[in-house]
Amino acid sequence: MGSRCRFLKRWLDLGKLWLLASVYGLALAPAGDCSNTSATLPNIIFILADDFGFHDVGYHGSAIKTPWLDKLAAEGVKLENYYVQPICTPTRSQLMSGRYQIHTGLEHRSFHAVQPDCLPLEDPTLANKLKELGYATHAVGKWHLGFYKKDCWPTRRGFDTFFGYLGGSEDYYTHIYKCDMPGFNCSQLEPGYDFRDQEELAPKYTGQYSTHLLAERAQHILENSQPNKPFFLYLPFQAPHIPLEVPDQYLKPYREVQDHDRRVYSGMVACMDEAIGNITQKMTELGLWENTVLIFSTDNGGEPIFGGGYNWPLRGVKGTLWEGGIHGVGFVYSPLIPDAMRGTSNTQLIHVSDWFPTLVAGLAGGSLEGLQLDGFNVWNTISLGSPSPRTEILHNIDPLTQTYMSIINWSLEGNQTKDDDFFTPSGAFNTTIRAAIRVGDWKLLTGNPGSSRWIPLPDSGIVPIQPIKQKGKHVWLFNIQEDPNEYHDLSEARPDKVKELVGRLQHYYSGLVPPLYPPGDPRSNPALHDGAWTNWE
Ligand SMILES: *[C@@H]1O[C@H](CO)[C@@H](O)[C@H](O)[C@H]1NC(C)=O
Ligand SMILES: *[C@@H]1O[C@H](CO)[C@@H](O)[C@H](O)[C@H]1NC(C)=O
Ligand SMILES: *[C@@H]1O[C@H](CO)[C@@H](O)[C@H](O)[C@H]1NC(C)=O
Ligand SMILES: *[C@@H]1O[C@H](CO)[C@@H](O)[C@H](O)[C@H]1NC(C)=O
Ligand SMILES: *[C@@H]1O[C@H](CO)[C@@H](O)[C@H](O)[C@H]1NC(C)=O
Ligand SMILES: *[C@@H]1O[C@H](CO)[C@@H](O)[C@H](O)[C@H]1NC(C)=O
Repeated sequence: MGSRCRFLKRWLDLGKLWLLASVYGLALAPAGDCSNTSATLPNIIFILADDFGFHDVGYHGSAIKTPWLDKLAAEGVKLENYYVQPICTPTRSQLMSGRYQIHTGLEHRSFHAVQPDCLPLEDPTLANKLKELGYATHAVGKWHLGFYKKDCWPTRRGFDTFFGYLGGSEDYYTHIYKCDMPGFNCSQLEPGYDFRDQEELAPKYTGQYSTHLLAERAQHILENSQPNKPFFLYLPFQAPHIPLEVPDQYLKPYREVQDHDRRVYSGMVACMDEAIGNITQKMTELGLWENTVLIFSTDNGGEPIFGGGYNWPLRGVKGTLWEGGIHGVGFVYSPLIPDAMRGTSNTQLIHVSDWFPTLVAGLAGGSLEGLQLDGFNVWNTISLGSPSPRTEILHNIDPLTQTYMSIINWSLEGNQTKDDDFFTPSGAFNTTIRAAIRVGDWKLLTGNPGSSRWIPLPDSGIVPIQPIKQKGKHVWLFNIQEDPNEYHDLSEARPDKVKELVGRLQHYYSGLVPPLYPPGDPRSNPALHDGAWTNWE
């Protein structure tokens, strides 16, 4: 470590002085000056929970006990104006690419295992960039960014090691997944095994609960980390996504919960929290915290209708562009954050696409030159409380979901090509297209917004207000700062704002890469691949 670097680290420890320095505009980039000796770069642990509802963490008032998440968040920085995408693949794609879905062609839904599609191979992933900077890179858990050819696999997208499953969901014990793509004849396919160690199938894990497996592997990686090599541990848990399964012992504290789905989901969250506790303790035991940054994030909102996760008091559910689908639970814990900032809640606008530049440039001091990113480096926002460089979020534009189409016309989607008129945005943005955008405090939703209810917890006794249904309505406007739960649609009262935000959607629409959503391919059939989900090209 150079002397300037050591000096900077001392400043970092003196949190208040550090803040003072930033107030006086002294240019002291936290990691940048230490960045060219990779040994001093901070380790990064990125934990992604799957379908974890906004309500479902202890510090948001949940009855589910999450002592470890609560403790880490309380000693770190809670991100309370933090946004993710409404479903799995989109959030993961933005995390790994730093790009909005309109720039990767992934506007429309998550990948199904039978689809020949993956995160575009042209752009580097977050793991590629960190690896370039000298990091050991590990992915432990769910991939869900495509696998129809091996080039799409995490081991070929910047990760030195991979332990987990390539698809989007499966049984927690058997690790078997059965095709369920609507509009595709799944009955012609066998179910298949999907759990790997590196690129090899790992059937020996049959019968073992995934949260335990992933936590054990994460600890193993920590134990084997090398002192002179920083690590990036990406830990996308399977939990608490459906299927609702958990070992009995985790259900005991929730016996009183009447609702079956909520009861099992509670146990799944508790188990994930315990896993995070084990990892936290392992970090302490190994003395690794001093130079580590841990980020926790959900991938999208909870699914209360059949998944047991709740976003109350927010409106909407997983899969929608209402706040319940996208306003995510997130926090950052690190001794590298000055004391004065630790234990605070950050209300600056931060989005999942921001992690790419934040980790690559903000933490690892790497260059972003030549990359076209939609994210911002928000490290100073998180660690010093400076204003977020982000003032706007394109939540999404999905040209394949229009109000007047019967939600989704699968047969139409099968055959789109890049020059198909319908998918080439040549004209004005049509507000029957499903889209949403945030500009400052304002948010506009257009098209079919999906499930629009406020859904209280099953045992809460709250009788929710039902949204007023207006046939053909497809534009809503909210001031999220004043109305975070989206009760008061201001689209009629503020036509000026509607016009302004539609203008921003038009701007993005004109640069949209047509969505790719290929039909399922029967060659994916696990029966053709020794009973496993694997590449077929
Ligand atoms: C740091 O970067 C400079 C300029 O790129 C280079 O000359 C030097 O060797 C680097 N130091 C280390 C320890 O890598
Ligand atoms: C779906 O596949 C099964 C099994 O191959 C076949 O028996 C059935 O006729 C197919 N259904 C349709 C609608 O094509
Ligand atoms: C946490 O560690 C304890 C002690 O090793 C173990 O019994 C438990 O199963 C672990 N929990 C998880 C979720 O991995
Ligand atoms: C879906 O699209 C096809 C092809 O354009 C059309 O024939 C069919 O009527 C559409 N179905 C629905 C339910 O809109
Ligand atoms: C899709 O394209 C294939 C090949 O061009 C064609 O055979 C098929 O009829 C098309 N399907 C639809 C629904 O247009
Ligand atoms: C927008 O799209 C809908 C559905 O395709 C169509 O009925 C409507 O005419 C379009 N509006 C404009 C202004 O193009």
